[in-house]
Formats: sequence, structure tokens, C-alpha cells
Amino acid sequence: MIETQVDVTSANFKANPFPFYAQLRAEAPVFPVNVSMPTKQRAWLITRYSDVQDVLKDARLAKNPRNAMSTEQLKKRSWIPSMFKPLEQNMLDLDSSDHTRLRALVHKAFTPRLIEQMRGEIQVLTDELLDAAEPRGSMDLIADFALPLPLTIIGRILGVPAKDNNKFHRWTKTLLSAGTNPNYVVFIPTTMRFMGYLKKLIKERRAHPKDDLITALVQAKDGSDKLSGDEVLAMIFLLLVAGHETTVNLIGSGSLALLEHPDQLEKLRCEPAIIKPAIEELLRFVCPVEMATERYAREDITIAGTTIPRGELVLAVIGSANRDADYFDNPDSLDVTRENNKHLAFGLGAPLSRLEGQIALSTLVRRMPNLRLSIAPDQIRWRGGIILRGLEELPVSF
Ligand code: HEM
Repeated sequence: MIETQVDVTSANFKANPFPFYAQLRAEAPVFPVNVSMPTKQRAWLITRYSDVQDVLKDARLAKNPRNAMSTEQLKKRSWIPSMFKPLEQNMLDLDSSDHTRLRALVHKAFTPRLIEQMRGEIQVLTDELLDAAEPRGSMDLIADFALPLPLTIIGRILGVPAKDNNKFHRWTKTLLSAGTNPNYVVFIPTTMRFMGYLKKLIKERRAHPKDDLITALVQAKDGSDKLSGDEVLAMIFLLLVAGHETTVNLIGSGSLALLEHPDQLEKLRCEPAIIKPAIEELLRFVCPVEMATERYAREDITIAGTTIPRGELVLAVIGSANRDADYFDNPDSLDVTRENNKHLAFGLGAPLSRLEGQIALSTLVRRMPNLRLSIAPDQIRWRGGIILRGLEELPVSF
């Protein structure tokens, strides 16, 4: 029997969702659950690799609920304060031509060259963070290492002053918890502060351009096409959040996976050249983004024999697809030398996260040969939430 009352957003579930997903792949690959999201809808979990792959590009699914729901369904959605509206102009909430347009414009600004230029800075920062921790002999690997690295780097790329990094991480953490809190009102003060802060930065860059991504986004042009004021705001917001709340989980949960598989950790320590396949395997294995963002059925859609009614929420479970035995040999084993690893972990930020993950973990493994957990495995705490999967903290000593 499949447990129907499971809360897929709870911290307990996040600790090990994989047996539940394996059962769904075998018995009910399209499965309805209730998620405590603000809109309180039923959500359909899609768990098999081939279905997840299809769902991610299925034009019958809309990112923007207004393109999918009937007037009746839209009326039943909970009230969303109008001040949140500018943030809805981000790529993850838009469809077809709006999405393609924004993606093309951000590609002009967020180039592989810009990311490669960060290599030196990422290495220096990685070493600085480990230098600071080393004399203490212990650290919280999340707060002292996995978080400040991507947070500082995305801040530098965008041109956010370093002194404000912790402030915007506090704001994003609060706003991410909005995904499972039915009451939008409590997020209004944080949203106002965050948006006010970003608007001020954008205004400053319009007046005094600098060599940073905010300036590039303000100036980005495709023919006569430019980003509107709301679109620049939403884009910066998305890049700030997606640019660190994901990679922290790759470095944090990736380190834990290595500590839990000492043979794999040893292999990586002895053969640093395998860091690239090792990072791909950690992405597959820990799944920093466990579910793709929300998609809504534009019409009744049948997937693997189950019909999802129009307007309902569909969640493509990447964390399940990446453990599908039809696509990966021994999917529940961590193998840092795995070849032909076609995991579905990524969206736009792949080059930056790969680089950060490779530098962070190869340096950590090289510099901390005695790295070990400082708490019992059953005391490890995971963060609750809907899309992401990551740790609250990871106390280690070395
Ligand atoms: C380990 C790190 C990361 C993982 C696992 C990850 C994963 C993903 C996934 C699965 C999506 C698709 C979501 C969907 O379609 O529902 C996505 C989209 C996106 N990601 Fe990431 N991401 C990571 C890092 C980053 C970084 C560092 C950035 C930016 C600096 C970023 C920016 C974005 C953006 C802008 C999108 C939207 C793209 C679009 O809609 O076309 N991500 N990411």
C-alpha cells in the first residue's frame, strides 16, 4: 500500500525520500499528494525518468497558472498581494514567447566567459573560508563553507555589495519558506525590504553603470527589445535566489554523501582528476533541486495511464528520475566514477554551479584529509520545503 498522507515538504521526508519515490515509480508513477502550498492545491508527482524528461518540455503544461486554469479555478486561488506581481515576471513563472525572450536576454549578459573569469576568485574564496575554519578544528560545513561560497560569488557577479550578502540570504530563506506557508501576508515585510533594496541598486546602476551583471541586465538588448523595469527586478531576484540556494545544497549534501561513503571519498582524494564525474554523480545522488518548479495542466493530460485534470499542479520529481533503474545502473549507489551520467539535475545555472562545486569539493577533500561528522547520523537535520533539498547544518571536524 502506498502511504497517501505523506508530507513531501517535511524535513523528515527530505532526509530520505528515495524509498517512497522507488515505490511510486514501480506502482503509481503519477501520484496525487496534498502539499501545504499557499494555493492549497492537489499536486501530481511525476516520478519516472522518461515522464519527468517529457514533462519538463511539455507545451501542454504552463508555468503561469493563468495560462492553464479556468476562471473558476483562478477565483479559488488564495489572494496574492499585488506587490508580489513584479516578481512574477521571472523566467520560472512564464511561458513560451515571454520565457524565450527573457532567456535570450539573460544569455547575452550571463555568458560562459563571465563565469570562467570567476574561477580564480572562487578558488581564493574557497581557500579563505577553509583558512578561517582550520585553526578551530571544526565548523558547520553549511554556514561556514557551503553557503558563503555561492552567496558571495553570485553577489559579486551581480554587483551586490558584500556587506549585504547575509541580509539577502536571510530574506531569501524567509521567502523560500513561503512555498509551504498558506499565509502570504507574513511575507509582506520581507518582500517589501528585498524589492526596495533591489530597486535602489537598479536605479544606482542606471545612473552609474559598473562592470557587473546588474548593469549588463539593465543595458541588455536584443534588437530593439529590452527588459522592462519589473523584468530586471524579477531577473535579479531569481538569479540571487537560484544562484545560491541551490549550490549550497550541492556542496553541503554532496559533502555529507562523501562522508557517508568513505570508499568514494577516498577514491576522490587519491584521484583528484575525477572531480568532474564526481560532481555530476553528487548532483544525481543528492539532488539539490528535488522537484522542478510548478507546472499546471492547460488541458486534461494523460501521463502513464493517469489523467491529470486541467488546471492542476504537476511536480516533476527530478530526485526520483535520477534514481530510475531504467536509466542508471545501481541507482542508489554513489559511484564518483560513473560514466554516461545523464542526470536531470539542472536548468540555466549549470556552468557556474559545476565550477563552484568542483573547486569547493576538490579543495575540501585535499585540505581536510581527516574530515568527519561531529554528530551522530540520526541527528542530521534537513530543511523542509517543496522544490529544494538540503541540510540545515552539517557539523564536522578535521
Ligand atoms: C546545484 C546547482 C543548481 C541546480 C541543481 C539547479 C537546478 C535547476 C533546475 C532543475 C531548473 C529548472 C527548473 C524548472 O524548469 O522548473 C533550474 C532553472 C534555473 N536555474 Fe538553476 N540550478 C542550480 C544553480 C543555479 C545557479 C547558480 C543559477 C544562477 C546563477 C541558476 C539559475 C537558474 C535560472 C535563471 C533558471 C530558470 C531557467 C529557465 O526557466 O529557463 N541555477 N535550475
